[in-house]
Amino acid sequence: MDILQAFSDYLDAAKTAIASASTLEEIEQVRIEYLGQKKGKARELQSLIGKASKEEKPVVGKRFNEVRTEVTALLETRRDALGSGATEVESDFDPTLPGIAPRLGNAHPITKTITHFRELMGRFGFQVVEGPEIEDERHNFDALNIPEDHPARDPLDNFYIATAQKTAGGPILLRSQTSTVQIRTMEQVKPPVRIVSLGRVYRPDTFDATHSCMFHQMEGLMVDKHVTMAQLKTLLSLFARSFLGPDVEIRFRPSFFPFTEPSVEVDMKWGGTWLEIGGAGMVDPNVFRAVGYDPEEVSGFAFGLGIERFCMKHFEVDDIRRFYENDVRFLQQF
Ligand code: PHE
Repeated sequence: MDILQAFSDYLDAAKTAIASASTLEEIEQVRIEYLGQKKGKARELQSLIGKASKEEKPVVGKRFNEVRTEVTALLETRRDALGSGATEVESDFDPTLPGIAPRLGNAHPITKTITHFRELMGRFGFQVVEGPEIEDERHNFDALNIPEDHPARDPLDNFYIATAQKTAGGPILLRSQTSTVQIRTMEQVKPPVRIVSLGRVYRPDTFDATHSCMFHQMEGLMVDKHVTMAQLKTLLSLFARSFLGPDVEIRFRPSFFPFTEPSVEVDMKWGGTWLEIGGAGMVDPNVFRAVGYDPEEVSGFAFGLGIERFCMKHFEVDDIRRFYENDVRFLQQF
């Protein structure tokens, strides 16, 4: 049948034309030539259908539609390929030019210090635990042997959350120390205990070069049958030396905390000067009683170190406020 042959020829010619079109303009030309409504080749072929005999008509009509659909699909595929820029961009793309370097982020110096502390304490056999930053009075004060009338509970020295009090059934505050995690841990596990907890604490201090109303502490707690103060000092010395270098010294000064007895202030000598880094002591028997441990059976030490202090020494930062300003020019140095 001549008409069917004409359709095949049209299809072959269209395929060749589509394949050799190499720009969007050329493919548009091919479309006008083969599928154009006014003068396109498809239009000419369509007029042939009228010349077919009555029996041939259904076959011819069906074939015409198939051929036109195929050409349309091939055209679209080719147009998409050209439109994606594959061919055109190639010509002025210079693969030897240096690329645009992506700006890389890095961990915050405090985060770096925390990660490093965790790793060091892990090597000393301490497990890392977490506690909530929003606390009740039991964990922040009562179980830590801080009496009802102790000035540490003063509303002016703490961030109490007045609106939460009703639903919580008692005063709620942002924890003022990570010692809360000592209590939370001992409530849950039996001795022996060897944990550290690193995180944020909150106190309404006036912002200056060494004070911030939010800062970070590392709390440590070790409880077992014969834990001693000498072990505490050895551990803190080893820890400080692993972090800052072999010539770092640790010294204890007598002090007082309601939750330790005896209590000490811990100083560290580094680069010729003494710097206070935190508090420590032997866990007070009342704290053990509050969590159901028997103070006749076990003893323990606890310490709380200011993370910012170490971080400032280590990275030679002289103003604590730099850590919280989110100035990229500062942060990208680390
Ligand atoms: N919680 C005390 C503080 O924030 C530090 C401390 C922790 C002291 C553990 C003794 C034992 O000042």
